[in-house]
Amino acid sequence: ENESTVSITVVGASGDLAKKKIFPALFALYYEDCLPKHFTIYGYARSKMTDAELRNMVSKTLTCRIDKRENCSEKMDQFLKRCFYHSGQYDSEENFSQLDKKLKKQELSASSGNGWTRVIVEKPFGRDSESSAVLTKALKQYLAEDQIFRIDHYLGKELVENLSVLRFANLIFEPLWSRRYIRNVQLIFSEDFGTEGRGGYFDNYGIIRDIMQNHLLQILALFAMETPVSLDAEDIRNEKVKVLRSMRPLRLEDVVVGQYKSHSRGGVTYPSYTDDKTVPKDSLTPTFAAAALFIDNARWDGVPFLMKAGKALHNRGAEIRVQFRHVPGNLYNRNFGTDLDRATNELVIRVQPDEAIFLKINNKVPGLGMRLDLSNLNLHYAARYSKEIPDAYERLLLDAIEGERRLFIRSDELDAAWALFTPVLAELEEKKIIPESYPYGSRGPVGAHYLAARYNVRWGDLD
Ligand code: BG6
Repeated sequence: ENESTVSITVVGASGDLAKKKIFPALFALYYEDCLPKHFTIYGYARSKMTDAELRNMVSKTLTCRIDKRENCSEKMDQFLKRCFYHSGQYDSEENFSQLDKKLKKQELSASSGNGWTRVIVEKPFGRDSESSAVLTKALKQYLAEDQIFRIDHYLGKELVENLSVLRFANLIFEPLWSRRYIRNVQLIFSEDFGTEGRGGYFDNYGIIRDIMQNHLLQILALFAMETPVSLDAEDIRNEKVKVLRSMRPLRLEDVVVGQYKSHSRGGVTYPSYTDDKTVPKDSLTPTFAAAALFIDNARWDGVPFLMKAGKALHNRGAEIRVQFRHVPGNLYNRNFGTDLDRATNELVIRVQPDEAIFLKINNKVPGLGMRLDLSNLNLHYAARYSKEIPDAYERLLLDAIEGERRLFIRSDELDAAWALFTPVLAELEEKKIIPESYPYGSRGPVGAHYLAARYNVRWGDLD
């Protein structure tokens, strides 16, 4: 495969995602010799730019992430020489066919005639069931489902991919993975910055569409699925879609929404969401949401899956927390006083930052008395592995080039994900539900605690 030729077109080349993630990921793949020998990258966007200007723009965000080897700048130059630019409108057939001509010229020398075309699509995949179906239909007019690679970059994160390994390659977890032993599961996403200029995109979507309907729900599906027949992409996605289709319709009372407000701390004033110039002053778009979800199948009946996602909170991180049930008839109960929740086992998968997996277990505090405390069995990636963790986009772009579909979203998964959130999103918007405000840099609205408490859950704090 490495001998082959590939042309990559980055549509939206002057945008944030291209600059911050796509070009750096392509460079990292090039650096690691993962790209085919003959490749060209075309940036496509509306702005007028020369090849040299594109290269200059791209060079600013490339980093020698991988152990800062000496020949990095040389490699960078070689990489940049393979980057070109074509300016055009997104809705102009003519502009795209000009690009097509350029690509064909490049490919002619190496073409063996049995190539492929794949399209990687980033979210938003519409903003509800209906608009998503329109998009799917439009894509399917030109592409077969197996040519469409819908990206959810959370699936490319190391610890998300590891979820299945943890569960299916270790005897000790899978037997516990059900309502019999698991009391609740928490999926937590938190950012310590606001929309800061991205409000134009964000205000149309809000945090439920931006994070929950995709990133957190995908983690939930992987977490909760039945054992797939094999590791084949179709087998895995068949199981994920079953979970999504088994979800109980989400009710408005099981959702809490919030929006951040200006806050001053240490002499610095942090802005409100609506201070963002790209956001309407009267916007009701949530920048925070919490939700209680249920999977109505035999394995998960009655187990709350709580999601929480927010911007402008007190810290940045993403975690999966699995709280186990109390030990029945625990001999040591009296050592915990009245707060048995504090004494339950918990498995924490810290997706980012500082990747780690902990298992909280009760342990005797060394000494003459009998005092117990909850301590961590700790798999801390930085301490255990010397290798750097690749960025999610590196893995996903490589998979797409290799035709591996396991970590991409199939259209039926997407439909099921929208079916879950569309009614509640419509209700929030129709009823003009006012989001609870929370100060920039805080832990978010208290409503999230009441919601969790209704299901006897206490949110874990990002460790
Ligand atoms: C994107 C969202 O999908 O994920 C952004 O659109 C969010 O709003 C980002 O900031 C978070 O990704 P990561 O990899 O930095 O956690």
